[in-house]
Amino acid sequence: MSIFLGIDVGGSGIKGAPVDLETGELVGDRLRIPTPAKSTPANVAAVVKEIIEAFEPVIGDAPVGLTIPAPVVHGVVTFIANLDQKWTGVNADKYFEEKLGRRISLVNDADAAGLAEVHFGAAKGNDGLVILTTLGTGIGSAIIHRGVLIPNAELGHLELDGHDAESRAASSIKDKEDLSYKTWATERLQPYYSHVEMLFSPDLFVVGGGVSKDWDKFGPLLKLNTPIVPATMRNRAGIVGAALFAKDSVEHPDPLVEHAV
Ligand code: BGC
Repeated sequence: MSIFLGIDVGGSGIKGAPVDLETGELVGDRLRIPTPAKSTPANVAAVVKEIIEAFEPVIGDAPVGLTIPAPVVHGVVTFIANLDQKWTGVNADKYFEEKLGRRISLVNDADAAGLAEVHFGAAKGNDGLVILTTLGTGIGSAIIHRGVLIPNAELGHLELDGHDAESRAASSIKDKEDLSYKTWATERLQPYYSHVEMLFSPDLFVVGGGVSKDWDKFGPLLKLNTPIVPATMRNRAGIVGAALFAKDSVEHPDPLVEHAV
């Protein structure tokens, strides 16, 4: 069995569980701890430590995968939209390794969800170009070509009608502006996905994020040439993707990541 611990850092909760990467199933129950109100690297590291300690007997000294809602370039968080600004510029892999005394691999949250969907979910077996978007507080994106992730695509921040796309089309905006599913789908999501489709000509769009459970209310309203389907990994996606990333960091280490341990 190939078991790695995946931890998903979100705006409201930090969730972790060991994952059996042969099946994509969680090994036992996941542990969820609320994200500290001040979501600084130090406060998040304290929660991550607690989760690692809870699962240490199952995972031994294997590296741990950790998602973050930000681009992570060779271990460094280059900017952050929806967590504490103290993250910007932090060499996060190194920082967490120093604090926790073990190998940690940080990965963008949407990249993790994309990996999970391609390995075990809605895009399993797709040999073309898959673009996954997550609709939540922001818009996350993952580009995966023939099973290989092209990391750190920030398609949620494309400019659309003079605005940052996520400030118009994220599901948090639907809630904030109290838009109906129909208005949100036709006026916000439609121009967004048409634009991404024009730029990338993907073979498949996968839509994740909590709102994908309500797919029937907005998905069928989208008119695109590209097939578009809801994600199937649901709230496991981040955890499973983080675990996949941890395994990949062992098998294909990034020579440009600076490690501390
Ligand atoms: C961030 C992305 C992240 C997405 C979803 C965006 O604001 O820039 O890195 O994937 O939100 O959390």
